[in-house]
Amino acid sequence: MHKKKLVIGNWKMNPKSLREAEAHFTQIKKQLPKLRNVDAGIAAPFVYLSSLGKLATTSLAIAAQNVSAEKEGAFTGEVSVSMLKSIKTKYVILGHSERRTLGETNAFINKKLMLVLLAQMTPVLCIGETERDHDMWYLSTIKTQIEECFAGISKASAQKIVIAYEPVWALSTTENRRDATPEDCLEMRIYIKKVLSDLYGNAAMEKIKILYGGSVDEKNAIGFLIGGHADGLLPGRASLTPKKFVALLQVANTINTTNDLR
Ligand code: PGA
Repeated sequence: MHKKKLVIGNWKMNPKSLREAEAHFTQIKKQLPKLRNVDAGIAAPFVYLSSLGKLATTSLAIAAQNVSAEKEGAFTGEVSVSMLKSIKTKYVILGHSERRTLGETNAFINKKLMLVLLAQMTPVLCIGETERDHDMWYLSTIKTQIEECFAGISKASAQKIVIAYEPVWALSTTENRRDATPEDCLEMRIYIKKVLSDLYGNAAMEKIKILYGGSVDEKNAIGFLIGGHADGLLPGRASLTPKKFVALLQVANTINTTNDLR
């Protein structure tokens, strides 16, 4: 059973300057209550990570939003796992839907996943369907994403991966979006667990954290954490306002994990 919830704020391509990034990070740090039940992180753009890494604490870590699929060498514009590791990056988000839209495939994400694991950082693998159809084909989309992204990954390594379930139709930036409910989150959680258990067995499956992301804020967080049984959250928009992000962390921190049914 996972004791602590994991909450990572995905800043995406924000804020506009390093100065603002440092100010936001510092503000979050200052307002941060003692978090007993939550591990927190900020996924900032690459160029800010090194500076934010110097401000990071054990309660507020830094995360990358992406990484190169190559270990080293002549790859103009890329950032490698060893570079991220050298500035104490703790988590690396992989396969975010906004990157999949740019052409990232499951096989490509799988290569990155292997490198991140090898470098001993925690991969946060995003999966999620673009829409929910009545014939439930979206379940096979999720299954394929998991099977192809986890391909060739051992049971021992698989347990170190964090999955972030992000239904694309519920993201704050999706056109004609609609809200996902805690029930949507729970339904998918059960399905993801089934797929993982078929691949790695029950004991390993139990160790893999499944976060929820998609328009999460300080108001709906509790629903996803309790009703949806999420092991944590990946808020985007709500993480851009330090006050909102801290409020969200506070909510997650109130959850008594011993009451967590699963
Ligand atoms: P959102 O973003 O909270 O703004 O919907 C979440 C994400 O894309 O990771």
